Amino acid sequence: MQRTDYCASFGAKDIGTRVKVCGWVQKQRDLGSLIFIDLRDRSGILQLAFDENTPKELFSMAFGVRAEFVLSAEGVIRPRGEGAVNPNLPTGQIEVAVDKMEILSEAETPPFEVLNSMDVKEETRLKYRYLNLRHPQLQNNLRFRHKLAKSARDYFDTQGFLEIETPVLIKSTPEGARDYLVPSRVHPGSFYALPQSPQLYKQLLMVSGFDRYMQITKCFRDEDLRADRQPEFTQLDLEMSFVDEDDVMSINEGFLKKIFREELGIEIPTPLPRLPWKEAMENYGSDKPDLRFDMKLINLSSIVENCGFKVFSGAVAEGGSVRAINVKGVADRMSRKEIDKLTDFVKTYRAKGLAWLKGGEEKTSSYAKFLTEEENVAIEKACGFEKGDVLFVVADTKNQVVFDSLGALRSKCGEQFGFYDPKSFSLLWVTDFPMFERDEETGKYKAMHHPFTSPKDEDLPLLDTAPEQVRAKAYDIVINGWEAGGGSVRIHRRDVQQKVFDIIGLTKEEAEVKFGFLLEAFRYGVPPHAGLAFGFDRLVSLLLGLDAIRDCIAFPKVQNACEIMTQCPAPVPQESLDELAIALVNREEK
Ligand code: AMO
Ligand code: AMP
Repeated sequence: MQRTDYCASFGAKDIGTRVKVCGWVQKQRDLGSLIFIDLRDRSGILQLAFDENTPKELFSMAFGVRAEFVLSAEGVIRPRGEGAVNPNLPTGQIEVAVDKMEILSEAETPPFEVLNSMDVKEETRLKYRYLNLRHPQLQNNLRFRHKLAKSARDYFDTQGFLEIETPVLIKSTPEGARDYLVPSRVHPGSFYALPQSPQLYKQLLMVSGFDRYMQITKCFRDEDLRADRQPEFTQLDLEMSFVDEDDVMSINEGFLKKIFREELGIEIPTPLPRLPWKEAMENYGSDKPDLRFDMKLINLSSIVENCGFKVFSGAVAEGGSVRAINVKGVADRMSRKEIDKLTDFVKTYRAKGLAWLKGGEEKTSSYAKFLTEEENVAIEKACGFEKGDVLFVVADTKNQVVFDSLGALRSKCGEQFGFYDPKSFSLLWVTDFPMFERDEETGKYKAMHHPFTSPKDEDLPLLDTAPEQVRAKAYDIVINGWEAGGGSVRIHRRDVQQKVFDIIGLTKEEAEVKFGFLLEAFRYGVPPHAGLAFGFDRLVSLLLGLDAIRDCIAFPKVQNACEIMTQCPAPVPQESLDELAIALVNREEK
């Protein structure tokens, strides 16, 4: 070995010991007759000292050292001089009196200081990601990610799960996003898809009798990126046979309990609360509500259905609704400018406006003048409105718009006005999702989770009469307002599967082409089975309290799905295209 141990492994206990360490120069300080170098490796920092006793040649070598040089240094550990002790550093009491040193590699002046790199423009820090990754925060995030993956494998191993790899070049999977396609050279004109999830393969593994499967694996979805989404991301995926919803939830609660205890020292009370989807929407305007604070949506439709303000009464008349949130005690922090900002904010969720009532020194409102005294009183009463509060109202002919905009406004206000401790956690299951939702463009039904999700037994008759009312045996695990994972009990009855395909407009022939292999497999003895997948990047980010999942991914992609450092995606040589029988079309000319 080139070194005794990592830099930060040494402390006061090692005073007098001779050590050899290696690492990067974080900082070199030249005080004339003294030179100090902060040497960094993945464990932390150790101070190297050079003084009047240092051989002259070595002293001048230390003098020439610059940030990010790679060094190996040898010497004896001694206490730091009077006044030089740094209580904030694990190695803050000691330094190495260096008597031997080698510059293993020099470094050009980096584009930013590693320690400042978290504040650098994202484009720059991703271009030089390898430098950014030297930052202790990112080092810590990736170390934590490793520990969580290990902890997951250990836990599911003790529960009898086998980790089995599923292929990455596959036929398209039905998770509802766009596929990434890979052209086949051997079969010109044919394509593989990269898996959006291992869904179909894990179900086949159940047919094969593996009974309990898990895998930590990459998934690929060509969808618009957000802070909690990447085009390639990792799932902690699992599937079990001869189980129902409760079994899957309880196994996973065991896992969550373990990681919260071991990694964060937090005891989460189990069983976790379960909230049916309908209640989640009604109360929080979201299927992934953040329950760290209350602030429920209030339905005002019955109060305003006959009122003179057409924005309100019209929305109800056309089958929509009028709902409100009461943001308690923020009137003095809610200027007109702030309200305008929030109005623009809800408009991004397709709301047409934001009506408000503010209980400042004087009560002011954007809508009260259009309503009767009685109607105004009834609204205030329904919302528990008091002096100091600000009430926000959204009306729309589409309930979904009301839910989306007020749900998002609720989250925004909760965060902005500090309604909860950002270090606290709220975990819950959202259950009883609708089986189907209507595609906004085509008006057709589509599966809300995926078409292999089983309807609730008691809702089976509704498949024939009212598909939109059928609830699924589907569940999402929601942490602090993020969908951390989701899963379902699968259909294992052919007649039910056929009905579901019929409802989503998939003909027998289409089903055969798309998932004939699965349907065929189900003819040879399929156990009842169910499963779940965590978004592993999201789980890591949530536990670490990160704002975006890219900070726990070594080499993430940016908004437009590019990787800035390697500049991909990128054109390929004509020969490669020829080999694949691919001709490019110029979209503009077309
Ligand atoms: P689902 O599509 O809900 O279910 O995905 C499971 C979890 O994966 C995470 N996730 C993502 N994370 C980062 N970037 C993305 N683009 C992204 N998309 C999804 C979310 C989500 O909850 N096969 C089913 C699971 C099952 O039924 O067992 C599935 O993939 O945290
Ligand atoms: P107006 O009559 O257009 O000035 O609207 C009065 C108030 O109602 C303003 O505060 C608007 O922002 C608000 N408003 C307009 N449309 C809606 C809507 N669909 N939902 C809630 N408030 C609205």
